[in-house]
Amino acid sequence: MSAQLLDGKLISAEIIDEVRSQVDARLALGRRAPALAVVLVGDDPASAVYVSNKKKACERAGFRSLSYEFPASLSEADLLALVEKLNADPSVDGILVQLPLPKHIDAEKVIEAINPLKDVDGFHPYNFGRLALKMPLLRPCTPHGVMVMLEKTGVDLVGKDAVVVGASNIVGRPAALELLLARATVTVCHSKTRDLADKVRAADVVVAGVGIPNFVKGDWIKPGAIVIDVGINRLDNGKLCGDVEFEPARERASWITPVPGGVGPMTIAMLMRNTLDASINLNP
Ligand code: GUN
Repeated sequence: MSAQLLDGKLISAEIIDEVRSQVDARLALGRRAPALAVVLVGDDPASAVYVSNKKKACERAGFRSLSYEFPASLSEADLLALVEKLNADPSVDGILVQLPLPKHIDAEKVIEAINPLKDVDGFHPYNFGRLALKMPLLRPCTPHGVMVMLEKTGVDLVGKDAVVVGASNIVGRPAALELLLARATVTVCHSKTRDLADKVRAADVVVAGVGIPNFVKGDWIKPGAIVIDVGINRLDNGKLCGDVEFEPARERASWITPVPGGVGPMTIAMLMRNTLDASINLNP
């Protein structure tokens, strides 16, 4: 068997176009376009690419995007002051501070400073807590994108065994909460997990987000399982690859996400969705 591909580029484009039509409908009613403020500190090349893709998506969605770019020497106090200014600005609906931040800035402090109603990344403890309590408001973009892809398979997740590989705040933990919300039986694996291969072998759904190329071996995948690969790793030869050994996993899975063109574009689509939702919540 060879798995069907979950085309993140296509699904993402559909979602952004849907957001665009909602924006157009609101404009026709005299509302203003949603506005997203994107803050980039330092010169991490991967972050620069992500931020540029986010700005392009804003254009496609019909949003206003505000860009704030600073050298890595920006002080924590100055970044917190900018966040406060954006919190207080009624013309701004969403605030995104690109991670990672330079080491001298406490990222948790910055995330907690963002007004939770403008936290379109869904990283604030308020939004994370709401997801944990089965009452999500602004949902973390990447795990939300994973769930939309899982929906596209048409497979009912209720009671399925889902294994999440990786327990990061951005991917693994919120993905586990999303899968639990969808009533799957969830196992979260991390660097101290014993017998990882056996756990993956038992999974109907595998979500991998560890940031290590080809970490999940293809022959661990249960025949017919769904494989969602959140990893985007750059190899020495310049090519991108995921956390899952793609070709052998594809032979066994029923559905699989490619890298690139899988979960990556979904993160941006869900960011657009969150920004529209934040804008509607703030200006009904
Ligand atoms: N760095 C890597 N992924 C993300 C993301 O989804 N949001 C932000 N703000 N930073 C990131």
